Amino acid sequence: MRPLVATVDLAALRHNYQLAKQCAPGRKAFAVVKANAYGHGAAAAVECLRDLADGFAVASLEEAEQVRLVDASARLLLLEGCFEPSEYVAAAELGLDVAVQGQAQLDALLAAVIERPLNLWLKLDSGMHRLGFSVDALRRAHARLQSAPQVAELNLMSHFACADERGHPLNEAQLDEFAGLLDLAFDHRSFANSAAVLTMPAAHMDWLRPGIMLYGATPFAELSAEALGLKPVMTLTASIIAIREVPAGDSVGYGAGWVARRPSRIATVSCGYADGYPRTVPPGTCVAIRGQRLPLAGRVSMDMLAVDITDLPQAVLGDAVELWGNEIPIDELAQACGTIGYELLTKVTQRVPRRYING
Ligand SMILES: Cc1ncc(COP(=O)(O)O)c(C=O)c1O
Repeated sequence: MRPLVATVDLAALRHNYQLAKQCAPGRKAFAVVKANAYGHGAAAAVECLRDLADGFAVASLEEAEQVRLVDASARLLLLEGCFEPSEYVAAAELGLDVAVQGQAQLDALLAAVIERPLNLWLKLDSGMHRLGFSVDALRRAHARLQSAPQVAELNLMSHFACADERGHPLNEAQLDEFAGLLDLAFDHRSFANSAAVLTMPAAHMDWLRPGIMLYGATPFAELSAEALGLKPVMTLTASIIAIREVPAGDSVGYGAGWVARRPSRIATVSCGYADGYPRTVPPGTCVAIRGQRLPLAGRVSMDMLAVDITDLPQAVLGDAVELWGNEIPIDELAQACGTIGYELLTKVTQRVPRRYING
């Protein structure tokens, strides 16, 4: 078997969910498990959190169906609502909470004949301008929904554009827009993604919606997951599958861009960009072998990458190589590549087996 595995620490996942809850005592939290639980495996994440989580949130009916296979009764929020009118029937059958983010969705809902009323989340566009009603349109939607037979709970939600940038003026502006609607009767309100859970108590409302923090990565550029008390959930581990001595002046890998400045020992490692390891890593990016950080040598290939192990003479064939996890924080690698932990986690490809520990 190819030696590459994404180990998922379920105890860390539970720890991070509990940390989100501790940030906002008395509030509830939808664990956001869209995109296959940010690459970790939605079924396993839901199974792991089902006794702990107040609910789950996903991006589509297809994702909701996957969650329902594991947890038949949890509150389960469809974050972007229904993409076509027929989905309201399925949403009612599955007992979902459904966001309503625009006029077309509202009209389709009010025309839908469904077997039981839905918990609805009217989405306010408080300033991100991606989804949601304007304040005035939301007031009109609220009036139309109040006595509609399709409605069980009527709730309010919105989403931050810049919660990861503390002190950004848009944060206050978005909170003000939201607060301007609180004279309306809502059963529950929800605003906070991970960044707001961690740093904006005023946004906690009734239901949190933490995503990235559950997986032990930070939403902030300048605040590490460790400093926030989060534990990394995924560790991506490959092995050394070949070792060679490369004379000074010889190159390694595609494009021959990395040239040995000294007689070097180079390890070939069983992970490449087709596994989700970023091809865009800058020179000097490190992996960890036997607890030591060592730099990549040359370009990342589809299935392999090379590491300069000259400074670790005890390294041998078969040694484990951590690409990210406890020793190489995923956020460090993401930042070096000009991206975010979210992208690296969700891009771990299907051919990488997930192994679950501490379940
Ligand atoms: C509407 C909504 N709520 C909550 C989240 C969770 O955000 P985060 O992963 O930053 O906590 C997302 C994710 O993008 C989202 O789209």
